Amino acid sequence: MKLIAVKDYKQLSEKAAKLIIQKVNEKPDAVLGLATGGTVVGIYEELIRDHKENATSYKHTRSVNLDEYIGLAPYHEQSYFSYMNELFFKEIDIQAQHTHLPNGQAHNVTEECERYEQLIKALGGIDLQLLGIGENGHIGFNEPGTSFHSLTHVVKLAQSTREANARFFSSIDSVPTHAITMGIATIMSSREIMLVVSGEKKAEILCELFTHGKTESIPATVLKDHLNVTVIADEQALSVLN
Ligand code: F6R
Repeated sequence: MKLIAVKDYKQLSEKAAKLIIQKVNEKPDAVLGLATGGTVVGIYEELIRDHKENATSYKHTRSVNLDEYIGLAPYHEQSYFSYMNELFFKEIDIQAQHTHLPNGQAHNVTEECERYEQLIKALGGIDLQLLGIGENGHIGFNEPGTSFHSLTHVVKLAQSTREANARFFSSIDSVPTHAITMGIATIMSSREIMLVVSGEKKAEILCELFTHGKTESIPATVLKDHLNVTVIADEQALSVLN
């Protein structure tokens, strides 16, 4: 794993956005694996700013998101579908039919997982996957203990993950209990991976990621086996490691 240390969240967002822009310029029809959550918001803001100022175009770019809650209507304000549309897609020139998320309202969620896995294959695989990390080491919604061989699947969210995400909902009880997530093997089949880590709350897990061997109890440690991973972390996130 290559580590890029930056000063703060602003620099992290700028650096990550720069690498994504580079990829889209090199390969306009790139398949971008996208994430939601707090850390990546600044990256989307940078990409939007660049799109408006420098006209980087996403007209031919395709996107697949890591995950989606089960049971929220697509237009529920906390669905990842709404998040992506509000915070990114509607501000750039990506075509709606080129953007993909798992359907958390599918009648048969097992079939939906298979469909999503096939979709990623049909798109030619993911060129660049953007990842955040949970305080427990999760990537996507792959919680500790998830098999490194897992493909897109249904997960029961860890209580700690629901608590961490409760800030976006009216109460913890409104946070969905299940989600569909790309599996660890799905993520690992991406040609390139960029993990962004910011803030003190992530300092312990980032230290564990770099100092621990590979273990399914810390899902992100699987990234050590991937040949093209860049970790971008700010000073606060690096404060335990350093
Ligand atoms: C989001 C996702 C999650 C987040 C992780 C970090 O699509 O799959 O793994 O990347 O929970 O979230 P933040 O950035 O909110 O700390």
